[in-house]
Amino acid sequence: MLVLGAAGDLAARLLLPALAGLRERGRLPAGLEVVGLDRAELDDGAFREHVRRAVAEHGDEAARASAADLAGGCAYVPGDAADPAAVRAALARGDGPVVVYLALPPSVFAPAIAALAEAGPPEGSRVVVEKPFGVDLASARSLNALLADTVPEEAVHRVDHFLGKQTVQNLLGLRFANRVLEPVWNREHIERVEVTWDETLALEGRAGYYDRAGALRDMIQNHLMQVMALVAIEPPPTMAERDLRDRKVDLLRAVRTPDPALADRETVRARYAAGEAAGSRVPDYAAERGVDPARATETFAAVTLWVDTWRWSGVPFVLRSGKALGAARQEVVIRFRPVPHLAFGQAEPPSPNVLRLGLAPDRVELSVSVNGPGDPFTLEQLTLDATLAPQEVSAYGRVILDVLAGDPTLSIRGDEAEECWRIVEPILGAWRAGTPPLREYPAGSAGPPEAPLTGS
Ligand code: BG6
Repeated sequence: MLVLGAAGDLAARLLLPALAGLRERGRLPAGLEVVGLDRAELDDGAFREHVRRAVAEHGDEAARASAADLAGGCAYVPGDAADPAAVRAALARGDGPVVVYLALPPSVFAPAIAALAEAGPPEGSRVVVEKPFGVDLASARSLNALLADTVPEEAVHRVDHFLGKQTVQNLLGLRFANRVLEPVWNREHIERVEVTWDETLALEGRAGYYDRAGALRDMIQNHLMQVMALVAIEPPPTMAERDLRDRKVDLLRAVRTPDPALADRETVRARYAAGEAAGSRVPDYAAERGVDPARATETFAAVTLWVDTWRWSGVPFVLRSGKALGAARQEVVIRFRPVPHLAFGQAEPPSPNVLRLGLAPDRVELSVSVNGPGDPFTLEQLTLDATLAPQEVSAYGRVILDVLAGDPTLSIRGDEAEECWRIVEPILGAWRAGTPPLREYPAGSAGPPEAPLTGS
């Protein structure tokens, strides 16, 4: 594996700890060599020390146990990922097919892929690209064109670690291995779908990346749209790569292109102001180190999307994500319509059924109406609740295993990435033009009052 950006933040926080965790569990192929390339002037020894420290700081217990082992097999080439000579030198440190992992800021993806194409990766190599894949539709298209000149599409892994989450994968099992859900999984019975990813964490020193991305590009364009796609796709004939990804692309293609004239009603953007979240004081987002307030980056975004198909016509899909909120709520909520007729004659009709699929923690809840105690003709609400077994390999680890196995099923296909940009682009445009205005919410609160309430 050749890691471009090996001394950077993403490699230290996610990639190297995930690799060490897999090594500890015996899941890495024997003989996997990791070669790092970055601009820092390190030699092999100093890079190994960096790997050990990164895993010690960011890895879990299993990862830490294999930190030295992983580090021992690492090599390093100093250089610029956009320089074909440096990439060639790094490729020369190994032989055979290479997994080239772009652990780089999105702004460097294009020159790095161009350099890789020029250096010429060995036959059978794969390229791993992190999200966000571009910053808009045009940049995603040109990245796709560059990648197509470098390796075949099946060898491109546009990773989205949400697809490595067991809870997200469970959407498929729940929908397509149970008879009871599919007949009601449509506009006749479902009134509204909400996908929420509210975090208590604030910026965590990631201004360099986040201030140029914002919540819409960081979470909604990729992670939440993937979750939405799995909630809404038609049943695939098999779970094989082509079948699953074709169904996702069909679904995304059916998502109505948002009308900028409706941005005021169907989107909300906001950023946090000083407050307290996750037990710590949080400054105004605009005052965080590395943030340029003039960029007006949102730390909270909510959008309502519509899927124009027979199955989903008229059902709103509300996607919402924000940072520095008072409570972490990460779930898909399926709200069913009220029963067509209630024979119980209560003044207060019972609440309609709600199916809640927790993305973190992993749980499934279904609220149902039952007869109340005593009087058989009164109703009350009951929640059936199950917690799922914890995930054995981390979401990031899962993604890496698929890359190493050459299985792109849970990676984003090129046309899929472009569809996601096609959907968010009009929203980005409306926001740039000032509609709706950027709202504020105190850190630690429930978010901007203008935002659609989800989950409650
Ligand atoms: C990342 C985003 O992709 O996903 C972060 O860049 C976000 O901003 C994170 O916090 C959430 O996923 P997880 O699984 O790390 O909680």
